[in-house]
Amino acid sequence: MQNENYTRHMVVGLLLTLVLMVSMGVAFVRESGRIESVAALQQKKSLQTGRQLYVDNCTSCHGTRGEGGVGAVLNNSTLLKKASNEVLFAAISAGRPSTVMPAWGQANGGPFTDEEIRDIVTFIRAWEPTAPVVQTATFVPNPARGAAIYTYGCYICHGEDGKGGSNISVGSTSVSGDAAVSAPAVNVSAQLSKHDDEWYRQMIINGRPAKGMPSWGGVLSSNQVEDLISMIAAWRNGERVVPEITVAELLNSALYSLKQNDPDDALFYLERASASAFGPALNRFPPIIEQVKNKQIAPALADLDTLSKDWPIGDATNGETIFMDTCKGCHGAEGQGGVGRKLKPNTFIQTNTNADLFIFVRTGRPGTAMRSFAGTLSESQLADVIAFLRTWQP
Ligand code: HEC
Ligand code: HEC
Ligand code: HEC
Repeated sequence: MQNENYTRHMVVGLLLTLVLMVSMGVAFVRESGRIESVAALQQKKSLQTGRQLYVDNCTSCHGTRGEGGVGAVLNNSTLLKKASNEVLFAAISAGRPSTVMPAWGQANGGPFTDEEIRDIVTFIRAWEPTAPVVQTATFVPNPARGAAIYTYGCYICHGEDGKGGSNISVGSTSVSGDAAVSAPAVNVSAQLSKHDDEWYRQMIINGRPAKGMPSWGGVLSSNQVEDLISMIAAWRNGERVVPEITVAELLNSALYSLKQNDPDDALFYLERASASAFGPALNRFPPIIEQVKNKQIAPALADLDTLSKDWPIGDATNGETIFMDTCKGCHGAEGQGGVGRKLKPNTFIQTNTNADLFIFVRTGRPGTAMRSFAGTLSESQLADVIAFLRTWQP
């Protein structure tokens, strides 16, 4: 009897437990379903907010579907595969110093909260499954170009090859030892191995104005800073870096020497220029070299002056291809303009020499979307583009 009762209790207990387990299981399944739909809802809300913020703030530079313009192409499979959400978040929050890409995060003085930036990232991320692969001209830092920048901006204080210069006096006419600041040698292996690229990047961008090291962040483009960093990295490997010099610069030096009545120097520059020259103007170098050798200074000066204004001369057919790859996005396939100015026809092109246009496209126009093409296009490619732009002028 007692035994029977006990069994009955056990059966009831077991049944109850079963019922409890089943109902808990159902609740559990329901709960996870609820969590999922909350997440989906949040994702949808985030996407909507992100879209709104994007449309209001980013389309003018990045295009309505992220196709790019003044700003980088964002709807790009290569970028979206490479950049995690954190990377996109950081780029949007901090912006890109020395470019027109502003900082959007409140932490960086911008208008958006972290959550709003995450919403924008959600919106951009949603392009990934269908994003096309977009070829963008990538910038490759170049130590030789860095060395050329060094020659103009750093040599005067840090000396040849970064081995240290003489004392310089900063902000004072006093010649006493106290007012003279000595710029340290930069190319010192113990120092170079102690600091990484990021340290040098910060040093160059921010400088130490109080100690006499200027801040270069507002003077040099971020690409130029990277060229300098690659030069310093080459020094760290014990390499000697020779500055990259364009034919245009060599011609200028030759002209200057000739005006100073120094034909030997002029000959040196002319021969180097001739050796790296290219294109239809090639045959204009030897006669000038002959004139200088024969000390016929006046005619040499006249011809060299003309040549240095005409230089560089390229090939318009190649130039058209380069234009369609590199410039069309902003200036239009027919040169009709868009983000960039109308180039067909264009008085700026008509009133400037090739030499002027070469410097212009190489340097860009600071503070506008017309960026520097040094490092993305070589001297001969720029020559080709200029030749092509000339075909659009009456
Ligand atoms: C005034 C023009 C401008 C506006 C407005 C602008 N951007 Fe940019 N953005 C740029 C430029 C130019 C670059 C490329 C900078 C460089 O050369 O590194 C860039 C780069 C980026 C990058 C990095 C892309 C890469 O290849 O690493 C992201 C991400 C980005 N922008 C997102 C945004 C978002 C989101 C907004 C709106 C909240 C926005 N940008 C608004 C101009 C702009
Ligand atoms: C007007 C003179 C001057 C010019 C021009 C100058 N620097 Fe400097 N630089 C200095 C002085 C002075 C210091 C030492 C600052 C200090 O004592 O902290 C310095 C420090 C540095 C350092 C840190 C060296 C170390 O190992 O501690 C680096 C790197 C550097 N400069 C790079 C450059 C580069 C690159 C350029 C050109 C873009 C440049 N400097 C142009 C004066 C100059
Ligand atoms: C990301 C957009 C963009 C790209 C790419 C671009 N440009 Fe520009 N370009 C501009 C803008 C914007 C201006 C006008 C700048 C200003 O407001 O002064 C301009 C100005 C110019 C001018 C001067 C026109 C004038 O009337 O002042 C020339 C020449 C020029 N670009 C040539 C080129 C060439 C050649 C390329 C390709 C190698 C190129 N641009 C690529 C945006 C661009």
